[in-house]
Amino acid sequence: MMSHLLAKKSLEALEAEARGEASGLRRVLGPWQLIFLGIGAIVGAGIFVITGHAAAQYAGPAITLSFILAGAACAFAGLCYAEFAAMIPIAGSAYTYAYATLGELFAWIIGWDLILEYSLGATAVAIGWSGYLVSFLKDLGINFPAALANSPLTFDPQTHTWQTTGAIINLPAFLIIAVLTALLVKGIKESAAVNTAIVFLKISIILIFIGAGLFFIKPSLWKPFIPPNQGEFGFFGLSGILRGAGVMFFAYLGFDAVSTVAQEARNPQRDMPIGILGSLGICTLIYIAFSLVLTGVVHYSQLNVPAPVAVAIDAMKLYWLSPFIKIGAIVGLISVMIVQLMGQPRIFFTMARDGLLPAVAGKVHPRFRTPYITTIATGTLVAIAASLLPIGIVGELVSIGTLLAFVIVCGAVLVLRYTHPEIKRPFKTPGVPVIPLLGIIFCLYLMSGLPLDTWLRLLGWMALGLIIYFAYGYRKSHLRQITPNR
Ligand code: ALA
Repeated sequence: MMSHLLAKKSLEALEAEARGEASGLRRVLGPWQLIFLGIGAIVGAGIFVITGHAAAQYAGPAITLSFILAGAACAFAGLCYAEFAAMIPIAGSAYTYAYATLGELFAWIIGWDLILEYSLGATAVAIGWSGYLVSFLKDLGINFPAALANSPLTFDPQTHTWQTTGAIINLPAFLIIAVLTALLVKGIKESAAVNTAIVFLKISIILIFIGAGLFFIKPSLWKPFIPPNQGEFGFFGLSGILRGAGVMFFAYLGFDAVSTVAQEARNPQRDMPIGILGSLGICTLIYIAFSLVLTGVVHYSQLNVPAPVAVAIDAMKLYWLSPFIKIGAIVGLISVMIVQLMGQPRIFFTMARDGLLPAVAGKVHPRFRTPYITTIATGTLVAIAASLLPIGIVGELVSIGTLLAFVIVCGAVLVLRYTHPEIKRPFKTPGVPVIPLLGIIFCLYLMSGLPLDTWLRLLGWMALGLIIYFAYGYRKSHLRQITPNR
């Protein structure tokens, strides 16, 4: 049994899969499209919404330090991701890497874990999108009924209890996921073109916000830069910075999503590292500047709202800018959801091709050439979750799940360097073993700052995943059928 749980997919088989057109997916993406895909996936609800929550609740102006801490963790993990993405350029991301290096059980764990990153990530962004849409409509004099634009449930982290809000459903969040799912079923090429246009808009809007904000910064709002701890771990002070980093890690997610479209890249060996590291670097600089401006123009305690950037603009009295920023956020968050909704089905698709999920999930649409069954299944689940859940706990769960995935990826880079030193690596993570080890340490450190409730949810999710694996994937795995006596 142990040998089966640790059975690995051979790298030769993975390379053959990557080379062949057997998967049925089209190779249409070039290096700039990949960088744009990365930025499109990264800059989203994290910076536009969750920064406000985290500054107000956990870190104050020191949220900028949280960004630096989280950015460092991502850089280490990103360098490891880039090595794998260039070496094994096939759909499936960290799931595939784990299958080749650590064995099937780890692959399943990570694939299951990535559902948190992609599906729940899209859920959180859809909720954030809804907040900006409602705020924008209000500016136009349209009052969208609050009962139809908010989560019916909320979680109080101080009392650890769920409460009802009186709202019925978050309808805008539901509808945006439905529309994007339809777009993705139709095809990746069209989606990537839309994405590039959106990224230009989103980055322009953010740069305008930063540029305008520089003239309105009141340095007194940054004092004290690290507000004193309130007596409990994670609420301001140094532990608040750590918790802020764990929460804001969400804002960096997306660079790894580039790796999930490796099978659709024209030249993955060269372009995947460019896409991952390029987009991560650009976003880190933007976040540092953005968070300094945000907490420099309005007191952090006022930022715990659905559209914090709007509060900052009002504080600057630049009312004319407000609708542009909101449109930028509304349109900008769409590209994040597109990449997440694109990445998730491709992971499911690869798992189905490996026999760990039912074969029907591995079907490609005869005309659109997209993994349409898994795209529709993902869209349905995400739309339901987005219509019911609050953004805070969803975001934290995404962060912790992805941090766990990154720990495994960094570990896998190390393992593979020793077990398969001979493999051609078009991109090598520099400073092995230091960088992967730092990646593991930083990610575990950020996880340690997240609330106990979030840890318990992660454990519950992983337990459910293991039950499903042993009930289904363990018996049906293709690897098991090829090598029955391993
Ligand atoms: N990084 C993405 C966002 O902030 C998930 O929306």
